[in-house]
Amino acid sequence: MKRFAVIGNPIAHSRSPAIHEAFAVQLGIELQYERVLAPLNDFAGTLQRLQAEGFAGCNVTLPFKVDALAYAQQASERAQLAGAANTLGWAGTSIWADNTDGLGLRRDIEHNAGWPIAGRRVLILGAGGASAGCLGPLLEARPARVAIWNRSSDKAVALVERHRALATQHQVDLSALPLIAGEFDAVINGTSAGLGGQALALPNGLLQAGGLTLDMVYGTAAEPFLQWAQAQGAALRLDGLGMLVEQAAEAFALWHGQRPDTAPVLAQMRRATP
Ligand code: ATR
Repeated sequence: MKRFAVIGNPIAHSRSPAIHEAFAVQLGIELQYERVLAPLNDFAGTLQRLQAEGFAGCNVTLPFKVDALAYAQQASERAQLAGAANTLGWAGTSIWADNTDGLGLRRDIEHNAGWPIAGRRVLILGAGGASAGCLGPLLEARPARVAIWNRSSDKAVALVERHRALATQHQVDLSALPLIAGEFDAVINGTSAGLGGQALALPNGLLQAGGLTLDMVYGTAAEPFLQWAQAQGAALRLDGLGMLVEQAAEAFALWHGQRPDTAPVLAQMRRATP
């Protein structure tokens, strides 16, 4: 039986085992998927142990996504652009890396919410790992404009510069905003403010009436941003659970060559979410 894991620190909260097990049942694939707590200073040692034990692949979560890319011998273009990986696989002793977060975000917005991104104006809040992981696939969906706001503007500027060629290729007007301004069809929160129970001080008038909002986190951490979204008259207020299930489906497809039907698994996860 093939073995998989999700590595992080902390890791006890991870829903990845339940999601991958549900996909496996659906497709009649036998697998074992477990949570692995890596010491903060020994991600490499954890990877070596899993390799020695014959694991076929792993997902990687906070705070090791940047390390995951660094330890891989081959990396997809989107993982390189993101500067981080959330999916690893072993091919013999060699490790390949990919990042499926952005594909998951795009799929949740376009497929699950039925909201085409092409031609829209999108504001991303935050320029950390979560936002970086999503920017490439978002640009590939050809929005008219993507602006990135971050508390520390230098990080937003660096993220924009790294994606400049991709934005040009897809004819997307990509910029870093020093101050929040303008009107957008979608506002996506990729900051970790909500994880600390903090609300971002966002001005009114950012979001076009009837627009889409999405927080990349879920549960109570998504509440401050989604409350702001409600006050702004957002028609769609999504948390990060759909993105979580969709990024898992992309990782599952990379490992098993089959993409599961995510709708029943998302419904199952939604029922289990307080
Ligand atoms: P992750 O991998 O989850 O994105 P990260 O790389 O530490 O984690 O990035 C966290 C993001 O949330 C950053 O954009 C951070 O802003 P800074 O770059 O200025 O640190 C943002 N963030 C966290 N708490 C915030 C808060 N209270 N207000 C605004 N932005 C916040």
